[in-house]
Amino acid sequence: MKLSSLFPLMLIMLLSACDGSGTPSSRTPPPPAPAEFSEGENLFNKTCAGCHGPGAQGTDRGPTFISKIYEPSHHGDSAFHLAVKRGVQKHHWNFGNMPKISGVSKNEVDQIIGYIRWIQRENGIS
Ligand code: HEC
Repeated sequence: MKLSSLFPLMLIMLLSACDGSGTPSSRTPPPPAPAEFSEGENLFNKTCAGCHGPGAQGTDRGPTFISKIYEPSHHGDSAFHLAVKRGVQKHHWNFGNMPKISGVSKNEVDQIIGYIRWIQRENGIS
């Protein structure tokens, strides 16, 4: 086959890989979590995804957790508990401050962390 006959195919692949907007919300939705993390997934979607995005992919209001910055050795579980309890002063990014999140128990935060760590492992971050 001649290389030139492949060109239209390559163009289609390029176009479908990127819709041009470049915003995190244009990424493909994450796969559903396995049953053991589904409670954490629900809690995350209810309380964190508004800023950290579905599947922790980030939004224009908060960072993704699929990043080396948030791997367990850099941001251990206690960093997550503290962030929820006290909020976070803007320091790594330019999204602004994270407000403290009320109405989630320590146990619920543990479930959320479990879900986030699962996503991180799925993406090769551990
Ligand atoms: C209103 C938006 C918003 C919501 C809701 C939110 N966050 Fe955040 N979060 C942020 C922003 C913005 C940052 C980044 C601050 C920085 O480092 O500049 C952040 C950072 C963090 C960090 C990193 C803290 C650190 O030490 O650097 C953790 C952990 C975190 N969020 C966990 C959560 C969890 C868990 C939830 C849900 C219970 C949640 N966030 C809900 C906006 C939000």
